[in-house]
Amino acid sequence: MRAVKKLAVFRGAELVGMLLDETPIRFVYETSWRQKHQAPVSPNMPISQAEHSGQAVESYFENLLPEATIRDLLTRKHQVTSIFGLLSIIGGDTASDLTILPEGEVPQPPQYQAITWQDIADAFTQPQGIIRDIQEEGGLRISLAGAQRKLSICIDSNGNPLIPLGSSPSTHIVKPDIKGIEGVWASSINETFTMRLAAMLGLDVADVSYHSIAKACVIKRYDRLLDTNGQIQKLHQLDLCQIDGKPSTIKYESDGGPTLLRCRELLSQNGVVAADTKRFIQWVFFNLYVGNHDSHAKNLSIYFLPKHGVRLTPFYDLLSTSLYSGLSRKFAFKIGGENKPSNIHRDQVIAMSALLGFKPKYVLTVAEEISNDLLAKLHATSEEVNVMASVGTEQTMVDRLIQHISSNTKSFQKRLFTS
Ligand SMILES: Nc1ncnc2c1ncn2[C@@H]1O[C@H](COP(=O)(O)OP(=O)(O)O)[C@@H](O)[C@H]1O
Ligand SMILES: [Mg+2]
Repeated sequence: MRAVKKLAVFRGAELVGMLLDETPIRFVYETSWRQKHQAPVSPNMPISQAEHSGQAVESYFENLLPEATIRDLLTRKHQVTSIFGLLSIIGGDTASDLTILPEGEVPQPPQYQAITWQDIADAFTQPQGIIRDIQEEGGLRISLAGAQRKLSICIDSNGNPLIPLGSSPSTHIVKPDIKGIEGVWASSINETFTMRLAAMLGLDVADVSYHSIAKACVIKRYDRLLDTNGQIQKLHQLDLCQIDGKPSTIKYESDGGPTLLRCRELLSQNGVVAADTKRFIQWVFFNLYVGNHDSHAKNLSIYFLPKHGVRLTPFYDLLSTSLYSGLSRKFAFKIGGENKPSNIHRDQVIAMSALLGFKPKYVLTVAEEISNDLLAKLHATSEEVNVMASVGTEQTMVDRLIQHISSNTKSFQKRLFTS
């Protein structure tokens, strides 16, 4: 097989530029793209410059790839380790509006193959199976970031799942239970519950449901829209590591990744609307109350919504990690210098507000509102989720979540709102 040396990066059918397998990695914009469009691939690769190389290019493209053990598996299977090499295999459908193909190939009309929810359940329990066969025959080219196993699918108008072939766009993400971390159980019900709780509070969050046959949560992609002809349009999105020029290996503040202040700066520098600044504060407190300690900078993204400008995307990847004693006891970000939740008091919130340039009273009001709302909506959320969950482990998880989130939120209320 001829080694690929260039990857063509498309937006729709239009060539944006070429990614070159060089050291350091290089990206060259297509002249016609620079003449006709204002839109760069990432703010760190402005179109005022014809080409970019090194960290700006690497951090954008690296963050499109799966992380940790999922990346290791891909590396072993395809015997490629570089960002370029991995993208040449799975860059067709990514968390963005870009289609990345080996030089000489062009985006093809989307094609899908029908499967069943049982096939999806099997795909998560058996390494080989019908989905793997379909994907390999169809030349799978799909990449999503994150450390958890997941499958990108489409759902037809009758609710049946379809596997995208080649670089065809997906519309939903399927996340099964996390396996292989001691003490972690029923994570997909946990994620469904936590995301639904956010929706109950009126927070803008990706649509999620739990599928009892697939035993997984099924999340609607907010970066895929159906146009008036029923065609899937891709929207461009970037996570805050991509915008900050940081690779996925330093997504946590404790590793040198973006801090809350840096996130706030990145949002305003990139022109995110004022209403989304409030949503950013809500995201921080919601995560603290539910105990989502994994709320790092890759779990916060912006996207370019037609007619609405640059927006914070709907929230995603919300689950109560602190319910599991084996996962980190520390919050992903420091608040007023503290990342141990029990050390976060009113003074820390006041310090954080001042640092981020908000009036402490405003932040405390937003934080208190969410805490009250959250406690009021726990039972309604459990009723919704219990309809999807089967009796046994899944409903036990729902009960545990109510107890855990409620006691965690009440202790925050004591520390933050009683002076
Ligand atoms: N609903 C969604 N729509 C579009 N993109 C999403 C959605 N949810 C997640 N993503 C993208 O997929 C990536 C991985 O998803 P995530 O749920 O964070 O997985 P993990 O639990 O493995 O971190 C995210 O970093 C984000 O870029
Ligand atoms: Mg994530």
